[in-house]
Amino acid sequence: MKNSNRFDFDTPVDRRGTASLKWERYRSHDIIPMWVADMDFKSPPEVIEAIHKRAAHGVFGYTLPPEELNSLIVSMLKKTYAWKVAPEWLVWLPGLVTGLNVACRAVGQADDDVMTAVPIYPPFLTAPRFSRRNLIKVPMKEDGGYWQFDFDRLEQMITPNTRMFILCNPHNPVGRVFSRTELAELAAICHKYEIVICSDEIHCGLILDEEKVHIPTATLDAEIADRTITLMAPSKTYNIPGLGCAFAVISNKKLREQFKKAMAGIVPMPNTLGYVATMAAFSECAEWHEALLDYLRVNLETVSGAIQKMPLISMTPAEATYLAWIDMRSSGLKNPVKFFEEAGVGLQDGAEFAGPGFARLNFGCPRRLLKKALNRMKTAINNLSA
Ligand SMILES: Cc1ncc(COP(=O)(O)O)c(C=O)c1O
Repeated sequence: MKNSNRFDFDTPVDRRGTASLKWERYRSHDIIPMWVADMDFKSPPEVIEAIHKRAAHGVFGYTLPPEELNSLIVSMLKKTYAWKVAPEWLVWLPGLVTGLNVACRAVGQADDDVMTAVPIYPPFLTAPRFSRRNLIKVPMKEDGGYWQFDFDRLEQMITPNTRMFILCNPHNPVGRVFSRTELAELAAICHKYEIVICSDEIHCGLILDEEKVHIPTATLDAEIADRTITLMAPSKTYNIPGLGCAFAVISNKKLREQFKKAMAGIVPMPNTLGYVATMAAFSECAEWHEALLDYLRVNLETVSGAIQKMPLISMTPAEATYLAWIDMRSSGLKNPVKFFEEAGVGLQDGAEFAGPGFARLNFGCPRRLLKKALNRMKTAINNLSA
């Protein structure tokens, strides 16, 4: 606990009436929404201040990526990950899911194969099909709740038409922060079969396990960087997903040109306030970020402590993200999400992640609300097992 007292993550902010995706789902029901991945906290004060300042200017015309923002990203990547990036490698996007879909269109051609490891964040499952690519889903291995790549299976499932692997690191939903060894093994396979890696690193600022560090895939070595499209954004860490601002880092000129070509005429620039918020987030919010991580670590302990005491369901604490991946396979419930909705808690169905039998709980909220939800879950599951 270093900085938590300076910032207030405890006081609830009423999000009803703001057309919040998360809160609208259960608008007129007493169901605590713990599904889609945004947090119920206010963004850092510096982000709010920067938006106020820019709003006061009053003109919101088409806006280029500010040069100082490119320099800021370059220095942030160098300082945080010892990653030397040239400003021209950056491609700005209005969202990271946009980047996943653009990557699928940019690499290979119609009917080629795109691979990912499941369970996985749902847009990984739809992006290939939207781009007329086939999806190859490689199941991850689970050992006592600890999820890993199944490299043998992965290599066996590669086809002559496999052009891209979409990687999620840190991983949503299983919460893993992949080690250098794991990333290097995956990258070596991709290199061997000349597969491009699209590395979604949106959760990289949310490492909760203090023994782990985020390793951008492109920092493994120059050859791997050459076949990697990295996608990053400030949106998860600083809770600004509604401001639509993300970026790709692509060092390979040809790949970058293909990516930009696939965007042409379809993908708009990020909005003006998104740039402003990103600038403030990466330059002024280090203390808020530390305090957030402290708060989320205690929330994670709260969730895993409570789930441990519940019969029939289990979880392994996430190493990163504010998402808990809960195993409900032993509960005998046909529809665990419906069951918990009836108990007043709105989880996200694992089936949407190609992980049926699991549910995802978003613990990015004031602790009191989290405890209320966990108590509701406890009562419901106790009644079920009684
Ligand atoms: C792995 C991953 N990628 C992308 C996104 C969404 O990115 P965006 O809102 O910028 O499209 C999320 C949101 O939960 C996510 O978990």
